[in-house]
Amino acid sequence: MLENVAQPRVKGAASTSMKHESAILHVTGTAAYIDDMPEPRGMLHVVPGMSTKAHARIVSMDLEAVRAAPGVVRVLTAEDVMGENQISPVHANDEPLLATDHVYYWGQPIFAVVAVSRAAARHAVRLAKIEYEEKPAILNIAQARENGGAVVWRPLTMERGDVERGLAEAPRRLKNRITMGGQEHFYLEGQSAFAQPGEGGEMRVWSSTQHPSETQHLVAHVLGRPHHLVTTEIRRMGGGFGGKETQANACACIAALAADLTGRAAKMRLDRDDDMMMTGKRHDFVVDYDVGFDDDGRILAVDMVLAARCGWSADLSGPVTDRALFHADNAYFYPDVRFRSQALKTNTQSNTAYRGFGGPQGIVAAERVIEEIAFATGLDPVTVRMRNFYGTGTRNVTPYHMTVEDSISAEIVSKLVERCDYETRKAEIREFNRHSRHIRRGIALTPVKFGISFTATHYNQAGALVHVYTDGSVQVNHGGTEMGQGLHTKMVQIAMREFGLTADLVRITATTTGKVPNTSATAASSGADLNGMAVLDAIRRIKERIIAFAAEKWAVAECDIHFLPDGVHIGDDIVPFKKLVWDVYFARISLSANGFYKTPKISWNADTGRGRPFFYFAYGAACAEVSVDLLTGENTIDRVDILHDAGQSLNPDIDIGQIEGGFVQGAGWLTMEELVWDAAGRLRTHAPSTYKIPACSDRPRIFNVSLLEDAPNREATIFRSKAVGEPPFVHGVAVLQAISDAIASLDEYRTCPRLDAPATPEMILRTAMRLRGEAV
Ligand code: MTE
Ligand code: MOS
Repeated sequence: MLENVAQPRVKGAASTSMKHESAILHVTGTAAYIDDMPEPRGMLHVVPGMSTKAHARIVSMDLEAVRAAPGVVRVLTAEDVMGENQISPVHANDEPLLATDHVYYWGQPIFAVVAVSRAAARHAVRLAKIEYEEKPAILNIAQARENGGAVVWRPLTMERGDVERGLAEAPRRLKNRITMGGQEHFYLEGQSAFAQPGEGGEMRVWSSTQHPSETQHLVAHVLGRPHHLVTTEIRRMGGGFGGKETQANACACIAALAADLTGRAAKMRLDRDDDMMMTGKRHDFVVDYDVGFDDDGRILAVDMVLAARCGWSADLSGPVTDRALFHADNAYFYPDVRFRSQALKTNTQSNTAYRGFGGPQGIVAAERVIEEIAFATGLDPVTVRMRNFYGTGTRNVTPYHMTVEDSISAEIVSKLVERCDYETRKAEIREFNRHSRHIRRGIALTPVKFGISFTATHYNQAGALVHVYTDGSVQVNHGGTEMGQGLHTKMVQIAMREFGLTADLVRITATTTGKVPNTSATAASSGADLNGMAVLDAIRRIKERIIAFAAEKWAVAECDIHFLPDGVHIGDDIVPFKKLVWDVYFARISLSANGFYKTPKISWNADTGRGRPFFYFAYGAACAEVSVDLLTGENTIDRVDILHDAGQSLNPDIDIGQIEGGFVQGAGWLTMEELVWDAAGRLRTHAPSTYKIPACSDRPRIFNVSLLEDAPNREATIFRSKAVGEPPFVHGVAVLQAISDAIASLDEYRTCPRLDAPATPEMILRTAMRLRGEAV
C-alpha cells in the first residue's frame, strides 16, 4: 500500500481542491505578518541611511546631528559590525552590509538609525552630512558594454553542433536584437525583519524571507557567531516573488545588529519607497540573435548573446543568466546552437530572483525568433512553432545536452488552437482590422516549456519534521516558506491524505531553522516538489511504526492496514486514528519523525555546459487577444485562454490561482511595468505613483484557464504533480506578441514589428511609427 504514490485514494485530500489554509485570515485581515507581531516593551525601530550617488568615494561622513536627534538610541555603521560586514549570498564577497569607503548605487545602505519610533528614525536619517567624490557611473547594458563590459559572474556558453556552419549553410538568415525591461517585485508586504536578543549571544529573527536558512547563516556571519545561536522564523510572507530569496537578508542582519548592540528588540520594516530604491529587481536583458532557417520555417541554427543588467553585486545574477540560457530554446529544437551570457555589472540596485529567474527573458527571445521567421516566410507563427517543437529521435536534445523525453508542446498547442478557436478568430480579427482605422486587434498563441529543479544541484534537497500528538492531532513542519502560493495548504493535504484526517487535525507551523535545518530557498517553483516528498517521508516513517504495532497486536498482515477518513482499517476492524495513536504512545513508540528528500537523476556541469539540470519540464500554452488604440498606444487584453500542465495537480483551485496570477504578473512585466533611472542613476519610479502594476481592471475581459487533463508527471514527484509557481508567468508573452500582431496590421502583415518590452503606450506608438515609415 505504501508504494503507490501515483493515484489519489482519499477524496478531499491531495489531488482535490481545498481552500488556502490561511484564506479566512487573509480576507479578514487577521493573518499575521512581521509587522503585525505584538511589539515587546522597549522595542526599537531601524531605518537605513542610503547613498544619494550612483558611484562615489565617501570622503567624509558626519553623523553627529543624526546621533543627537530626538529618540535616537544608536547609529550603526560598517564599523559596528562585529563579525564580517559581508552578505553576498553566493560568497562573491562583493556585498558589504553597510557601505565602507565607496558606494556603488543610489540607494545603497551606508548607515542605519536605531530609534524609539519609526518616525524618529526617519526624521534623524535626513540629518546625515555625507561628502562624496563622484565617480563615473555605469547605469545600463549599453554603457556597460561601452566601458569594457565588466561582469559580476562568469559568462556561460552552451553549444551543440556547429553553429557557424549551420548559419552559413542555412537558405535564409536574419540577425537582430530584442530588449526587455526589468520588473519591481511589488510584494504587498515590504521587506521586514524583527530581531530579539536572547541569553549567551542568542538571536531570534523573524524575517519575511524565502530562505530562512540563508538568513540565519548571514545573521550569524554578521554577528560573528556560530549558526546554532541564531534562529530564523517566518509564518508567511505577503508575497515574495523571488524578491525575498536573498534580499530579505539585509533587513534581518541590520535588525539583528541593532538588537545585539542595544540588548533590545529591534525591527526594520522598509518604507515602500526605500524598498524600491534599495532592493534589486528582475534583470532587464538585451538579446542579440542570429538565426538560420528554411522556407518552410524550420530553424537550422541559432546563435544568441543574452546580456543582463545585474547591478552592483553578483547576488543571484549568475544562476539567473544561466537560466535565461536554459530557456532560450523554449520548446524548440535547434540543430546547431550556441548561447552565451553576459552578466553585466552596473551602478544600479543588485538585480535578483524574480518569478521565472531569467527563464522568461530567454523565452521572450526564443519567441521573437519564431515571430521573425513567421513574418519572413509568411507562415502563421503557430505553424512555425509546430514545425520546430522538440520531437523524437535526434530532434530532442537541448543546447545543454539534456534529452527532452516527454515533449508535449505539440499536443498542448493543438488542443488549445482548437479549444480557443484560434483560426476562426484570427481570420475574424484580420477582417476587423481591414475596416478599422485606429483600433487594431491582434492575437497570438505561445507555448512554454519550463525546466524544474534548482540548477545548483545541491539545493535540490529538503527536510521535514512531523509530530503526531496523543490526541490524534498532527503538526507538520518543513523547510519551505509560504508566500501566498499555497505551499502550506498542499503540505497539509499530504498529511490529511496519508493519515486519513480532516483539515482541522493537521496544523502547519511557522517555518523555523530550529525545527528543520540547512534548507534551501523556497524558489525555482520547487517548494511542493521538495518539501512534499520530505513531508511524505516523515509521515511514512511514523506510519510504518504504527502499522508494525497494529499488525502485531491485531495479528493481521501489514498490507491489510489502511489509513482512511473513517479511521484506520486493521483487517476487519476500524479503529479511530486517535485511539490507535494513544495505544502506540502507551507502547512507548515514537510518534515523531523527520523526513528528507533529494531530487534524483539530476546533474549539471557549468564548465562543460552539459548535464541534466532538470528533473522534468512543465508545459503550457496561452492564447491572447488584444485591442490596441493606435492613436494613444493604449491596449486592453480582451480574451485569454490558457492550457497548463500541472501534472496530477495537488490542488487544482490553488494551481489555477497560480496560473491566473502568474499570467497577469507576466503580462504586467511585458506591457505596463517600466523602471526608469535618470542620468544620475537615481531610480525615478520608486512608488505606486510612478510605477504601474496591473490592476483588477487590467485583467483579461474573458479569462479561461484550464489544467491539462490526465497528465500525471512521468517522473515520480509528489503524487505525480508538477511545479506550478513560475512557469505560468511566461504566458504573458502571448500578450506581447498579440500586441505586435495588432501593430503588424499597419503594413498588411509584411514586416515583423520587432516590438520591444515593456509595450507601454509610448513603445507601441514608436513601433507603429517605425512601421509606417515615420520618423520616430
Ligand atoms: N504566488 C504568490 N501568491 N506569491 C508569491 O510570492 N512567488 C512565486 C510563485 N508564486 C509567489 C507565488 C515564485 S517566484 C516562486 S519560485 C514560487 O511561487 C515559490 O513557491 P513554490 O515553489 O512553492 O511554488
Ligand atoms: Mo522564485 S524567482 O524562484 O523565488
